Amino acid sequence: MNESSPILKISELTKSFHSGNRSINVLRGIDMSMYQGDSVSIRGDSGSGKTTLLNIIAGLERPDKGNIFWDEILLSQLSASFQAKQRALKIGMIYQAFYLIPELDALENVIMAARILGRVGPQAKSRACELLERVGLKERLKSSTLKLSGGERQRVAVARALMNAPSLILADEPTGNLDENTGKEIIDLLLEISREENAGLILVTHNRDYAMQTQRQFLLHYGKLNMGFDG
Ligand SMILES: Nc1ncnc2c1ncn2[C@@H]1O[C@H](COP(=O)(O)OP(=O)(O)OP(=O)(O)O)[C@@H](O)[C@H]1O
Ligand SMILES: [Mg+2]
Repeated sequence: MNESSPILKISELTKSFHSGNRSINVLRGIDMSMYQGDSVSIRGDSGSGKTTLLNIIAGLERPDKGNIFWDEILLSQLSASFQAKQRALKIGMIYQAFYLIPELDALENVIMAARILGRVGPQAKSRACELLERVGLKERLKSSTLKLSGGERQRVAVARALMNAPSLILADEPTGNLDENTGKEIIDLLLEISREENAGLILVTHNRDYAMQTQRQFLLHYGKLNMGFDG
């Protein structure tokens, strides 16, 4: 991969869901490319398909039609196991509900991202420590995640998402469970740290102010991704 090739390219993605005799066309032809260090936000009404789109980009759901390339690799050509490995290497994910492992402390949660790639040595530990320090949790490495506040848990999730130096971070309403000040801190952190690590960022958010902070803004409306705010 060279610096001018896209870290993500999606083309003509469509996705429908069927239940009973009802069917909804959630995505009706989505095209987008991202390059190293790009940041984009996606807003859209509840039910407009934002999570579906992120899941498809992450390879966790299949589109009906269309192509997804991670660093110019066509996803649909990969075996399931190779795709899972590539996902762990290239994509960092952050969710509204954090999804940390409650039995593990903060450090172990971050190291877990490397462990699933078989990386268990001291290098993984020192990278995890550095990231936790970077997100402001130097003193909480050994804390049970159950004892952390919502904002602190999301900081652990940010560190975990960056553990394997992904080329792309997908954040699905990462501030949805946080108060306004904490939410703003997390967005600032996410933007700063993804820039430092040269990772692309797709931020799904309902908050217009947060959305304004990325380089490009999109609105998902009737299955299409429109540039700007008003479609
Ligand atoms: N597995 C599924 N089976 C059937 N319908 C689904 C499935 N997943 C999503 N949908 C439907 O697809 C539409 C888009 O859902 P999605 O979760 O992507 O929306 P969203 O934009 O993320 O909404 P929110 O802002 O509330 O998180 C909704 O109507 C939802 O009910
Ligand atoms: Mg959603």
